[in-house]
Amino acid sequence: MRITLKCATSLDGRIALANGDSRWITGPDARKQGHHLRAAHDAVLVGSGTVMADDPLLTVREVKVERQPVRVVADGRLRLRPDHKLAQSTDQGPVWVLSLAQTRPELHDLGLEVITLPDMTPDQQIRALQDKGITSLMIEGGGTLVASYLKAGLITHIEWFRAPIILGGDGRPAFGDLSLSALSEAQVWCRTAMTSLGEDLWERYERLEEGDECLPA
Ligand SMILES: NC(=O)c1ccc[n+]([C@@H]2O[C@H](COP(=O)([O-])OP(=O)(O)OC[C@H]3O[C@@H](n4cnc5c(N)ncnc54)[C@H](OP(=O)(O)O)[C@@H]3O)[C@@H](O)[C@H]2O)c1
Repeated sequence: MRITLKCATSLDGRIALANGDSRWITGPDARKQGHHLRAAHDAVLVGSGTVMADDPLLTVREVKVERQPVRVVADGRLRLRPDHKLAQSTDQGPVWVLSLAQTRPELHDLGLEVITLPDMTPDQQIRALQDKGITSLMIEGGGTLVASYLKAGLITHIEWFRAPIILGGDGRPAFGDLSLSALSEAQVWCRTAMTSLGEDLWERYERLEEGDECLPA
């Protein structure tokens, strides 16, 4: 499966302030490109922490689409509430919740599909999505979910939007801990494109497989 990580960060790789505020780090051109990217994937995925902090809608807007990507939340404890925008918008496109818990009647009645998993590992989540026909997925955060997908070696592409602002060490990092003990353990990525979008920079990366050569853009 093609698994893309999309993130919008400051120059120093932060995705939010310490208080969780992250709207909007990048400008309108970068956000519009983010909608194009959503439209190009079968599904978009966020962690439950992002839903609790930002209450995102995750639909494709600003770009005409025939079909909305499936919106997926990785929510082991099923913390999603009926008043969250995702729960209130199933008329705009499907919403699936990957969880350890069984669905609740109020979520079922709103049209949300809860997919109960035996564990919440990235491998298990991807298997469940593949079984339901998803062939491309864009992960939109937050840092905890992204780190576990990076650790599992599942991310194949990165779409990085970088704003010319500095949020400092107390801002939230793009990725949670990876527990590396040597630089040689770091994943290596190949930059395939770099474009200015208003004041922001859009960098595109692909994962290098062993033996691949990178001719950076
Ligand atoms: N600038 C950006 O591009 C951007 C994008 C998105 C979010 N953000 C910011 O990021 C912050 C939220 O990030 P976060 O790190 O706190 O939360 P997160 O990564 O969105 O969610 C973490 C939660 O996801 C659940 N989860 C389910 N499956 C998981 C798995 N395989 N690996 C890891 N976690 C899994 C866990 O909770 P359960 O136990 O409930 O399953 C975990 O606590 C917010 O401040 C938001 O504004 C910024």
